Order: sequence, then C-alpha cells, then structure tokens
Amino acid sequence: MAQLPQAAKNRLAQGEIQQQLAAGLLAAHAHTSPKYLYDVLGSRLFAAICELPEYYPTRTEAAIFALHAQQIAGAVGADAILIDLGAGNCSKAAGLFPSLRPKQYVAIDISVQFLEEAVSALQQQFPQIKMTCLGMDFSAELELPATLEMEGRQFFYPGSSIGNFAPLEALMFLRRIRKAIAGGSGSDSSGGLLIGVDLVKDKAILDAAYDDSLGVTAAFNLNLLHHLNRLLDADFDPRDWRHRAFYNSEQHRIEMHLEARDELTVHWQQGGMRHFARGETIHTESSYKYTRQGFIEMLQQTGFGKVQTWCDPHNWFMVCHAQAA
Ligand code: AVI
Repeated sequence: MAQLPQAAKNRLAQGEIQQQLAAGLLAAHAHTSPKYLYDVLGSRLFAAICELPEYYPTRTEAAIFALHAQQIAGAVGADAILIDLGAGNCSKAAGLFPSLRPKQYVAIDISVQFLEEAVSALQQQFPQIKMTCLGMDFSAELELPATLEMEGRQFFYPGSSIGNFAPLEALMFLRRIRKAIAGGSGSDSSGGLLIGVDLVKDKAILDAAYDDSLGVTAAFNLNLLHHLNRLLDADFDPRDWRHRAFYNSEQHRIEMHLEARDELTVHWQQGGMRHFARGETIHTESSYKYTRQGFIEMLQQTGFGKVQTWCDPHNWFMVCHAQAA
C-alpha cells in the first residue's frame, strides 16, 4: 500500500480549526461541522450505526449494489481507478471489487489512522489491485496527486454522504468532483461518479433511523463533545446533553442536535465561553434527502451527462452512475 503525505493545503492548521469551532459555538444557533463526529471512536460508532435495524440506508444500498452489480460494473467500465471519498473501513468498495475489478483503488478519508488499518488489511485480500491511502479533508478541497492517472477516474461516494452537505455545498462539491475527473481541461470523458443518495420518504422511518432504540446514534452524537474537548481544550460534559434527531419535512433534511439538559456554561481555551439555556441546542449534522429527479438535475447542472439509476423496491434509496459530460 502506498501512503501519500497529506497535502499541506488540506491540513487546516490547528488554530484555524479552533477558530472555526469557536465561531460555530458562538453563533446565534450554535453549530458544528459534521466532520467532527468522526474521530476514531466516532468512526467506530458510525460503523455500528450502519448495522442497526432502523438505519436502512446501508443495507438498502448494499442490496442495490448486490442486485445490480453487473449493470453497475458496465456503467463504470473496465480498468477504473476507483477513488473512494470517505472510505472509512473500505468495506463498501471492497464489496464491489469482484464485479468492478478496478485496476487501482484510492481510499480517501479524514481519519487517516482508521483508514490505514483498513487499507492494509484490504491490500492483502486483493493483491492485484494497486492501493493508495490518502488523508484529506475532501469536503474543503479535492486535490489529487499529480501522479494519479487521469484516464478512468471513477469517484465513489456511497452511503448518501452527499446528504450531509447543504444543497448549495452539494452542488459545489459535485462540481469539484467533475473538475477532478477532467483535471481542469474539461476534455476527459472516461471518468464518472458512482454515488449513493437517500431519498425523501415517510417521516416515521427517517426519525427512527436517526434516533435508534439502542442509543448508538445518541452515543455517536454525544461523542462529538469528547472530540470538541480535545480539539478546543473545552469542558463539555456529555451527561449534560441529550441527543435530538428529527426529519424537517420543509427543508427535506434530518437535523441532528445536542440539547442542553439544563442551563449551563461551557468554557474553552483562551477565555472562550458560551452560556446555554435549558433546551438550547448545538446543531451537529443535517442529512438532506433528495427526490430521484431533483438529484439527476443536480448532476446535470454540475457537468455530468449520462446518468443511470438503480433503486430498491420501496424507492427509499438510489444508486446513480453519472458519466462526465
Ligand atoms: C454519513 N452520513 C451519510 C450519515 C447520514 O445518514 O447522514 C451520518 C449519520 N448520522 C447519524 N446517523 C448517520
């Protein structure tokens, strides 16, 4: 497994991270970026969420991949360089290797420590695929190493992670992917994007998926506070907060919040502090849900041409392959 150094531009200086976090905590409606949910424990808790009966996206997407593997492989094409954005434990890409047979696999994630363990295990299982591991905050910038061939770049963004961007950010993100396929020249057409998208559905199903009966999603959300304590030298006590998650049908999104159980004050380094009233929340994540047509239009607005889609029988989830136009 080749390991590429994290691009300097992608590494936000610690000071910048702290400034952004403090600004979010001090905003009228306190908020944090969902990327801070994924420290080592957060990544493990997210893997556990994917096993929960209420959390339908993972198993529904897996069933779509399994049922339509040959058609999906046909859309992606031979000799692909599969670029896995937010690879995590790499299990989704690994499941596709037998049908897609990529010539190269590039796993990208913020939590590089977790990623390295996963990729080295995978390399032993699939020695014929060249594997590269890249630590990068691709939500901010998507700069691939110049050594990576342009021909056959196929981005893989499963799990409906696109939903964690606000719609405008999602548009910009899709544009960045499109640009990385063309390498800025706009002339390459052998590349594409294979993406999983969660669809609008009944509120009760969505609410349960983000507030499960075992409290795993609650632990995932509350663990953010431990991460903030480390990043900001703050004094959050997770016992002072409760998990809240609900579908906002007007905005077509799940909102995940941490709600203060009582009036409290949080302090962080260099005199930073915020008072929270009882019931006040920190908005920690949004998960937008799309209609099939709405998402296809978004792909077409961002420089993709031919789009193929596959859904489950309930139309809860969609896998799309979009070819660079
Ligand atoms: C990673 N992402 C697609 C998940 C989602 O469904 O929005 C994160 C998650 N948050 C709570 N449960 C799962």
